Amino acid sequence: MAKILSGRDLADKMKQEYKKEIEQMKQQHNVVPGLAVVLIGDNPASLSYVKLKEKACAEVGIVSHDHKFNTDYKEEELLKLINDLNNNNNIHGILVQLPLPDHINEEKVLYAIDPGKDVDGFHPVNVGKMMIGGSCFLPCTPHGIQQLLVRNDIEIQGKHVVIIGRSNIVGKPLAMILIQKKPGANATVTLCHTRTKNIQEITRTADILVAAVGRPHTVTKDMVKQGAVVIDVGVNRVEDKTRKRGYRLVGDVDFEEVSEKASAITPVPGGVGPMTISMLLHNTIQAAKKHAGIE
Ligand code: GUN
Repeated sequence: MAKILSGRDLADKMKQEYKKEIEQMKQQHNVVPGLAVVLIGDNPASLSYVKLKEKACAEVGIVSHDHKFNTDYKEEELLKLINDLNNNNNIHGILVQLPLPDHINEEKVLYAIDPGKDVDGFHPVNVGKMMIGGSCFLPCTPHGIQQLLVRNDIEIQGKHVVIIGRSNIVGKPLAMILIQKKPGANATVTLCHTRTKNIQEITRTADILVAAVGRPHTVTKDMVKQGAVVIDVGVNRVEDKTRKRGYRLVGDVDFEEVSEKASAITPVPGGVGPMTISMLLHNTIQAAKKHAGIE
């Protein structure tokens, strides 16, 4: 049976570290990190993520400033809000939860965020810096995956990492992070997507296989090499009448069968999700430190 890579346990441990760091910032520099959380509409998954992010902020001592609006909130109003947040000295990080409603241009919104407050790492300035290996905010999910591997002593250097899914939030930045000539990287990366031919032949050569597809049971036993490390980024709601809320969460990986073949695997929930939040806290603390000229 595979080792379970608990993102929840690691994220809890990291939260204790953040808490101490923030207490010190408060005592020595009178700085309290502030995060603006912007949510438009009532997407149930987004509501749930935002709630978890705000709860985590409160646990470590980051002040989160809530900005929730109905689906009909105008792009113009959102751009004005972002401008105000860019100029607010108590706000060190700005998070606009994605996806946005169709009438709002996502690119325009992400470009409007001050790159120094872009704790999601989605602004092209940060994306560009990430690509050339510069100092920047790294996107939270791929950074969380890297940390989960590193802190579980899973060697990445020289390994073949196969990623399924080419999103701007996970697949593409993860590939970029893991090919860097840096510790915790130096991997050979293959990025697969919907048009990839013979995907199974490729995934079977992966030492580390990452599924970021958004569809349950996409990765089955026959797609995985014996002893591979399997990272499941998927968070899918499937109907389950035995649960009070009427659904349960499953990943993109068929956990039951793949965990018999993998050497290590992330669970859903409790795997990558908590690591994403942990990296958001990390980026917000870094943003506040930079703003205050600490270190
Ligand atoms: N939607 C899905 N993942 C993310 C994320 O990491 N950040 C934001 N802002 N929106 C998301």
